[in-house]
This record gives sequence, C-alpha cells and structure tokens, in this order.
Amino acid sequence: MKIKVINGPNLNLLGKRQPEIYGTLSEADLVKKIKDYAQKLGIKIDYCQSNYEGRIIDWIQADDYDALIINPAAYSHTSVAILDALLAVEKPKAEVHLSDINDREDFRKIQITSHGVDFLIIGKQFSGYLEAIDKIQQFNLSQNVVK
Ligand code: DQA
Repeated sequence: MKIKVINGPNLNLLGKRQPEIYGTLSEADLVKKIKDYAQKLGIKIDYCQSNYEGRIIDWIQADDYDALIINPAAYSHTSVAILDALLAVEKPKAEVHLSDINDREDFRKIQITSHGVDFLIIGKQFSGYLEAIDKIQQFNLSQNVVK
C-alpha cells in the first residue's frame, strides 16, 4: 500500500514556526517519524508539502496512491477547492492537525476540507499522522482490501 501524505502551507517551517504550538521538531523529523513507522507496517509513503493551493489539488487528483493523509494547514479553514478535490477521491482519506484547532481562535473552528475525509485527527502533534496510518490500515482490513 502506498499512502500519500500532503502537508499544506507553512508546515515546511516546523521547528521554527510558533514552537509553543507546533513543537521544536522539524519537517524532516516528521517525515522520518512517518516513514519509519510506515516501513515497519510494509507501507510506502510519498511525502509532499506545498504552500500553493493548486499544487495540493494536483497531488490529490494524481491517481498514484492508495490512501491519503492531508494536513491542509490554513487552507482547512478556507478552501472549497481542496474540499471538492477530496470529495472526488474514492480512497481512504484522513485529515490531521498537529494542534487542537477547536481550542484556538474561532476562525480555526471553521473546518471546510474535513467534510471530504473519512477520519479527522486533531491535537496529537506528530503522533496524529501515525494514528492516521493505523486508521487507514484498519479501514482497508475491514474492507478486505489488501494492497
Ligand atoms: C494546523 C492548524 C491550522 O489552523 C494552521 O493554519 C496550520 C497548522 C495544524 O496542524 O495544527 O498551519 O493545520
């Protein structure tokens, strides 16, 4: 199974950006953690990050993965275009947020893209991505899909 992991704007700044909210570990640390975890489960990871909405939509539309994990970052609260791209994908999909977006500013409580995913995991920092891998794997097993 190949899982595409898409991170949205400013997540390339992990470790430097608001460490009191997002922690002190870097994007490279996050990618290593995800890949190490997935490798033990025999899952391949295709990691992508972009600050551009259209680029993220092109990656969602590419038919080169079996399941999707996305943290659309700020676009989660604004992007009907990313929501529509997600709704067009009939594969297991999880949305992850590092921070607890329900316990921050009111505008972060507006969640648009999460209407297009099967699982929403918030406020668990890097572990949220690993939990998303688990949920996708359990979902595939329950559907008898083995890839
Ligand atoms: C975030 C939460 C968003 O509100 C914010 O714009 C981000 C990161 C998170 O992972 O907690 O960039 O998606």
